[in-house]
Amino acid sequence: MTKSLGLNKVKPGQKILAAYGDQDVLILKNYEVTETKDLERLKKLGVSRVVVEEESEKETVKKVGFISFNNLRSRMEQASTNTEKNEILYRHTVHNLKHIFSKVSEHESVELESLLPFAEELVRQIDNDPVNIAAMTQLEDYDFDTYRHSMNVAVLLALYERRHQSSRENSVTMALAGFYHDIGKIFIPNELTNKAGALSSEEYSIVKTHPLWGEELLEEMGANELLRQVAREHHERPDGSGYPDGIIDVSPVSLRAGVFDVYDALVSKRSYKARQAPDHAFKLLYDEFKGWDESREALMDLFRFIGIYPVGSLVKLTDGSVGVVNANHPGRASAPVISVIVDENGKAVKNPYLLDLLRTEQQKVLRNGKIYDDSIKIYGSVSIDEVKEISEPEVQNTFRRLNNHQLFRLQ
Ligand SMILES: [Fe+2]
Ligand SMILES: [Fe+2]
Repeated sequence: MTKSLGLNKVKPGQKILAAYGDQDVLILKNYEVTETKDLERLKKLGVSRVVVEEESEKETVKKVGFISFNNLRSRMEQASTNTEKNEILYRHTVHNLKHIFSKVSEHESVELESLLPFAEELVRQIDNDPVNIAAMTQLEDYDFDTYRHSMNVAVLLALYERRHQSSRENSVTMALAGFYHDIGKIFIPNELTNKAGALSSEEYSIVKTHPLWGEELLEEMGANELLRQVAREHHERPDGSGYPDGIIDVSPVSLRAGVFDVYDALVSKRSYKARQAPDHAFKLLYDEFKGWDESREALMDLFRFIGIYPVGSLVKLTDGSVGVVNANHPGRASAPVISVIVDENGKAVKNPYLLDLLRTEQQKVLRNGKIYDDSIKIYGSVSIDEVKEISEPEVQNTFRRLNNHQLFRLQ
């Protein structure tokens, strides 16, 4: 079976049987898309529609198999920017997570350690450029919900460890804990984990078993105590309102995992819900964690590092223009550097330009002599779904293109 789809729907790993341009002119045949760059190449060739073999996501992942670490390394070595390197690491690890989870669900034996070099590489890249790797969690043009989520939680947990002078070894273990924290979800029917409306109490009680399954699976796989604990406790809360056991003495690592888990769930798009803007998610969780000092501290720590407008996220300015956050100034979370993608008249900007909200004087020059109000500020975060003037892949590409620009760390 084949199906026809727009180029923007094609995912790396897919084989294109035929690619067409305007007026359905055949441009090429039998092309394998292995990474995002290939899609850009096709776009440059004028491809707008493609025909692909119809197969399930699961089959694609199985066919591509586990991507070896050597393969990953050689791809990363070919990349010229940190964004490219980190995106390759990010995408391949998500793919391998999916591969491993589907093997476990089919009761095939899995080496827990097979992801160890990926966790180690993640920690190396965190040491190399932490802001850039954190921004990867904002790049949303992947699907694979649970796996992206597991990767994001791993990134946030390992980032926390490294920023708090934890050893490399501990940080790698926490990355693994993030990778595997939701492995128990393989036993929960997709209709429940992806359900749009509210779950019935019966359905919810099924979902609430995933930490128990997770712990059990990890035990079978020979995981260490910490990994099992995070899988079991990441939905427990300090007032006993969590699940599966409603315990009060939740371990600090599990509490942290729980904070990053809900933060990521809020700011990510799912098939059944829209994304929350990061600033909104922070506010929501800050209120929700009232009285829970450790959870609030973990949230504030994340906020201090990635800012209220994280690199890679979208913001609307007071003049109506929209931009991708390109960098944050230390200690000035409210005035980041923006790559403007939609101008104040609501028109998509062909060549996005940088607007440094701390340096409005220079902006007058940068914006071709047109005088702008010096008080131009951020109006608020926006979700990519709300920006109709520009397509999602174009927004992501803006970030990728401009990311060689110097990134500042907050704090
Ligand atoms: Fe979970
Ligand atoms: Fe989770």
